[in-house]
Amino acid sequence: MSCDCCGVEQEARDIVTGIGRTSEFSIPLLQEIQKRHSYLPEDLVEAVSKESGIPLSDLYGVATFYSQFRFKPQGKYMVRVCHGTACHVAGAEIVSALISQELGIKEGETTPDLLFSLERVACLGCCSLAPVAMIGGKIYAKLTRTKIHAIIKDYKDGKA
Ligand code: FES
Repeated sequence: MSCDCCGVEQEARDIVTGIGRTSEFSIPLLQEIQKRHSYLPEDLVEAVSKESGIPLSDLYGVATFYSQFRFKPQGKYMVRVCHGTACHVAGAEIVSALISQELGIKEGETTPDLLFSLERVACLGCCSLAPVAMIGGKIYAKLTRTKIHAIIKDYKDGKA
């Protein structure tokens, strides 16, 4: 018989068996959890703590210290709006506001359907194309209100 709870315990066992069960493996254990889920689900971190014997407070101590770890699910598409100098001058604040409006979320949030997460980043390295944003690893250049609306619509419609 299986249940969600046993599923989590089994997954924790797989992770700990594959990585290691002492505190020196805390980072790789957390990285593996995040690799599988795109964030750190509480129940799985707890199960990994039980399985490995590493205190839960130690695992969370490590997880909160490093900015690479996330505590909330990430959307399928990460929308990164560039706020480097060139993009700032070219209207990055407006781009962020328009995207935020299109998605109905603020920076640092994820849409309820888990399709998009929104964040601001430093220079994406293509300043001559400012203002730019990166969605799912793809660069979108010289953004305007019309372009932003069309791009987001394509992602929502599964056409991007
Ligand atoms: S400042 Fe935006 S790409 Fe460089």
